[in-house]
Amino acid sequence: MPNSPSFPDSCVNIFPLNSQSDYYMIEKMPGDRQICSAVSGQYKEDFMRHLMSPLDFSVDELDKLLDLANDIEKYPQKYAHACEGKKLATCFYEPSTRTRLSFEAAMLNLGGSVLGFASADSSSASKGESVSDTIRIISCYADICAMRHPKEGAPLVASQKSRIPVINAGDGGHQHPTQTLTDLLTIRSLKGRLGNLTIGLCGDLKFGRTVHSLISALIRYPGIRFVLISPEELRIPSYIREDVLAANNIPFTEVERLEDAMPDLDVLYMTRVQKERFFNEEDYVRLKNFYILTKAKMELAKEDMLVLHPLPRVNEISVEVDDDPRAAYFKQAQYGVYVRMALILTLLDIKVD
Ligand code: NCD
Repeated sequence: MPNSPSFPDSCVNIFPLNSQSDYYMIEKMPGDRQICSAVSGQYKEDFMRHLMSPLDFSVDELDKLLDLANDIEKYPQKYAHACEGKKLATCFYEPSTRTRLSFEAAMLNLGGSVLGFASADSSSASKGESVSDTIRIISCYADICAMRHPKEGAPLVASQKSRIPVINAGDGGHQHPTQTLTDLLTIRSLKGRLGNLTIGLCGDLKFGRTVHSLISALIRYPGIRFVLISPEELRIPSYIREDVLAANNIPFTEVERLEDAMPDLDVLYMTRVQKERFFNEEDYVRLKNFYILTKAKMELAKEDMLVLHPLPRVNEISVEVDDDPRAAYFKQAQYGVYVRMALILTLLDIKVD
C-alpha cells in the first residue's frame, strides 16, 4: 500500500487527519483484525490510496464522498469529461452483473475507458498466475483497478504490489466496501440520515460479505441498532458479533423469525443465501427459501421502512413486493453508479469545480 518505505508491511491504508501532515494508519493484524492508529507528521499528499474496507475512509471522508455522489446525480454533465484519458481495469475472478457493470458505467460516465476480464477462466489465473503478478501487469495498462476475488484478502495482496489504486469489489465471504458505499448513499438519500436507525439484516449473515461491510460502516454513526435475522446455521460470524458489535457497545438482537422483527425496523436489508460458499448442496437446498418477504409480511412494517437488497435476488423477496413504494432495491442499484463515480474521482484525486 502507501508507496513509502516508512510504512510497515501490515499497513493497508492511510487517511489524513485534519492537519496537513498527521494521518491515521490502518493495519491488518492476525485473526482478521484491523487496527487504526494516529501517526503525526509524516503524511504526504501524494500517497496512493486503495479501498479494501469501508473503514478505510473516515466518517468525514465518507460524508464528502456521498455529497459528491449526490452532486453527480444532480449534475451528471458536469462530470462527463472528468476522467478523459483515464482507464479503469475490472479484474473479476468471480461472477458479477451489478458491481462490474456499474464500475464500467461509472468510468464511461466520467469520460474514461475500461478494460478487464469477467471471469478467472478468461484470465491468466487459469494458467496459474498470482494476483500479485497480475496487478503488476495491470498497473502498466490502467490507472485504477476494481478487483473481485473468491479468496478473502486477495485484493489486499494485490494492493500491496500495485502502482495504481485497487478497489476491493468483493473478496470471498469477507468484505464488499463499494456495495456498502451504495447502501449508505441509498439510506442517506432516502431516509435523510445515517444515524438513529434500526436496521434489520436478514438472510445469510454468515457468508454475506455485504452485511459484514455494512455493519462495520454503520456502527460509526450514533443511535444505530441492529436486528440480525437468520437461521441458526447462517448467524453472523463471531468475529463480527464480538469484535465489531459487542466491542463497540452496539445494541443488537438476533432472531430467527422475520415477522417478529418487522414492526421495529427502519431499514430491512435482505440478502440471498450464498450458494457458492456452501460446502454441500443439501445444506443450501434446506436453507435457500428460509425467508421470503411477501406483501403480507410488508403489512407488519412501518409505513416508511425501506427494503434494500444488494441483489441478485433469488426467492427471498417475492416479486409482488417490487411495486411497494418502500421497495428501494432497484433504486439502490442506480445509486451504485453515482457512488462508484464519486469513488473513482476520489481515489484518482480528480477535482471537478
Ligand atoms: C453481492 C455480492 O456480490 O456480494 N452482490 C452485489 O455485488 N451486488 C450480493 C450477492 O451476491 O448476494
